[in-house]
Parts: sequence; C-alpha cells; structure tokens
Amino acid sequence: MTGEPWSTGFARGADGVVSVAGVDVHTLAATHGTPAYVLDEADLRSRARSYRRAFETAFAEIGAGVDVYYAGKAFLSVAVARWVHEEGLRVDTATGGELAVALRAGIPGADIGLHGNNKSDDEIARALEAGVGRIIVDSLVEIDRVADAASVDHPAPVMVRVTTGVHAGGHEYISTAHEDQKFGLSIAVPSHFHYGDLVLGSAEADSPAMQGLLKVLSRPELKLLGIHSHIGSQILDPSGFEVAARAVLTLRAELAKKTGVLVEEIDLGGGYGIAYLPGEVALDPDRIAKDIASSVASSAHDLGTPLPRFSIEPGRAIVGPAGMTLYTVGTVKPVRVDKASVRTYVSIDGGMSDNIRPALYGAQYHAELVGRLSDEPTVLARVVGKHCESGDIVVHEVQVPSDVRAGDLLAVAATGAYGRSMASNYNHVPRPPVVSVADGQSRVLVRRETEDDLLALDQG
Ligand code: LLP
Repeated sequence: MTGEPWSTGFARGADGVVSVAGVDVHTLAATHGTPAYVLDEADLRSRARSYRRAFETAFAEIGAGVDVYYAGKAFLSVAVARWVHEEGLRVDTATGGELAVALRAGIPGADIGLHGNNKSDDEIARALEAGVGRIIVDSLVEIDRVADAASVDHPAPVMVRVTTGVHAGGHEYISTAHEDQKFGLSIAVPSHFHYGDLVLGSAEADSPAMQGLLKVLSRPELKLLGIHSHIGSQILDPSGFEVAARAVLTLRAELAKKTGVLVEEIDLGGGYGIAYLPGEVALDPDRIAKDIASSVASSAHDLGTPLPRFSIEPGRAIVGPAGMTLYTVGTVKPVRVDKASVRTYVSIDGGMSDNIRPALYGAQYHAELVGRLSDEPTVLARVVGKHCESGDIVVHEVQVPSDVRAGDLLAVAATGAYGRSMASNYNHVPRPPVVSVADGQSRVLVRRETEDDLLALDQG
C-alpha cells in the first residue's frame, strides 16, 4: 500500500484513457456525468480485509482478540456498510444519521458502535433501541444521560473515551487527543489547576478519565466495557499509537487497583494515514499491527495485568484510496504570478463543495488528465473549482500537459474519505453521485443531487 495514490483498479491504456476496475472514464462520464465520486469496490474490500487480517494475526500472536470497526464518518452508504460488514468489520457511527445508514444496511445492532461528544437524547434512545454493541461516552454529563435512558434490567454497554495527551496527525483540527479540545476525559491533566490566583480542585483528586470510569461503575444502568482512545487522523508516524496505548493500559491497571474491576476492552481509535501524492508512503497495516501488538504486550506485562480485547476504528485507510473524483475541465487560464512566472488555472465543474479538505486543512491532492494521451510538455497548474471565492482550490500544484483544454477529463486521487461525507451545497451546487465500479460494471450508490432536491427544502 505504498507509492501511488490511485486505487488498485486504476489502469491507463495505451491510448492514455484510464479505466477503473475495467470501466473507462469516458463511459463513466457519459453514464453518470461529472463531477462524480468513483469508488473501486474491490480495492475498498481488500483494504478492509487487510486491516482485519493484519490486526487479527498480530494480536493472535500475543494472545489477544481484536475487532475492527469501520469509521463511517469517512464515507457511509448502505452498500459500503454492507461491504465492510461482509469483510468482517463492524461499523462505528458518530451520529444518529450514520446510525440510520448502518441500520438501513441491515448491520446488527451488536456490531455497531455510537460515538459523539454531544449525543442527543433521541440519538441515545435510538442507539439503545437498536441494541448497539457499545456507546462511547465522552463526558461526565453524558454518562448520566445514557444511564438515565437505560435500565438496570437492560444496562447500556459503554466505553469511556479518554484523552492521553498524545497529539498526532496532519492538522490541528484533526488531532483529537491533545488537551485543549472538546473530546473525551483527560488522563494526563491533573484535576487541580491554577486559575489566576485560585487553585481549583485538589492534587489528590482523580483525573477526569478516572472520574468518568468510577461514575460509570456507580450506575447500575451501565455496563463498563472498556476505555477508548483516538489520537488523531492521517497519522504517518505510528509511535503515537503505542504511547497512547500504554497510557490507556496504565489507567486500566489503576482502575483495577482501586476497584478490582479490570475492564475487558481497549479501543485504540482510527487515524491510519494514507498516500495522497505520488511517492507518499501509507502506513502498512501488517507493520503497524505488529508494532502495536508487541508494544501493548510489553506494556501489559510491565503492568502485571492480563491483556484485554482490543479494537480499532480505521476510516480513511479503508475508503480513502479506493475513491477518486472525476471532473470535466471547463476553462484554462494562464495567470501571471510575478514577472518571471505564470500559473495555469484549470477550472473544473466541482470544487470546494465536493472537496473541502484543501481549503479547510491545506490538504494536498494529486490530479491527472485521464481521458487521453498527450505528448506535450507539462506546465505547473492549479486545479480550481467553480465556486465564488478564490480559496476554492482542489489541487494547489500539479504538473499537467500544456495542451490541457475544455472538455478534458481530470481525476483527483484518494478522495474516497471525507470527500462526499463533508460535501456541501455551497452556491446551491448539487452534490455529485457516488458511483462504484467492479468487474467492468458501474453502479450508482448515492445518486446525484438535483436542483429540485435543493428547492424541495425551500418553503418559499
Ligand atoms: N474513531 C474516532 C473516534 C474518530 O474520531 C475518527 C475520526 C476515526 C475513528 C476515524 O479516523 P480515520 O481512520 O478516518 O483517520 N475530516 C477530517 C478527519 C476527521 C477525523 C475525525 N475522526 C479529514 O478530512 O481529514
């Protein structure tokens, strides 16, 4: 899983025309229009399998079980939920909406987890009704809220989300375990701190994370499954996982010492990084699974506690590389940057409404002309969208053939994760369809929105 940002079914013919899983891009554009998200089913399934097998194998070697949850926030549709479930994964949801998709797909409640730092009463009630396998509670307030919605006869299975102080991943907004952010209960921060001249709390008080665990144990309507830690996203340096896992295992041992309760499960979250650009190296599931397994085995050994069951929640690593976005070029404009240089602005028929990641995180992408061959030398181009602001950039810098022109098909690689799932209707642009390809056939998973869809919401 290194080197190229394209899915494994991506192939360029001698005529320069690209096909994905045997369907050429001209056929895709003619059948489904552009822009369109194109999802390579076999590639997605094989990434799901690779993660599951890699972790099962590595954790079996240390004598521990492991479950892999697909993080649906990266992209969720009924078909994708079914595919990952067929590949032996469970489904992690973060809202009532994602839960609804998983249930519509027929995923058994027991194989679904529900996250969220501010779940509504309605979301909690629906999760309990569906019999979800776990609710990951995020605050002390929420622990009572979930307990109040459950009953002693049917206790709600919960994990407590904690933060370990480990900060990892591509961008501050997507790194979730450092202290000054909204998720989880802190292990690292003591419960006493200075506020001006005041000292609040006491040095002897439990950490917020420990308080959360004790609170769950104090409510008979809750069953404490374990502890959850997610440290960030698009992580390419795996050491953060090991440091966080050690912190969580230590907390587990401390809880056992205090209460005699040794929780059964630890979830290490998602965040496994992928390649967005040619030459970038994704995390290798076999490697990372082995490293994490041997590190947790030695942590548990040092702590003198038996190993728990583990779970992980990859999203991007399963669906990101399986997807690309197919666009049609509309205009090409040379723009003088300074006295010595010109940049070629290539406008496509989508933009920040179908891929907000460059504008939001400064994310970098790779694009290629996919509909024909060109022997022309390349020029430095910027791929921009059709929205009314200059930050509407999809690819900041990429070399494209100098004869790039209106009507060319252009594809942007590795847009499967957080593309459609974060898409908007900015400028009343309808969201593109998600089309899957497999064995020479294409199929619409999520249809294109229409202006009528948008107007149907407008009450006049
Ligand atoms: N588990 C939890 C609790 C999470 O919060 C997340 C992502 C995941 C799993 C999956 O992480 P992944 O394996 O996909 O990195 N919109 C941002 C990413 C936000 C990630 C939020 N949480 C982006 O486009 O980069």
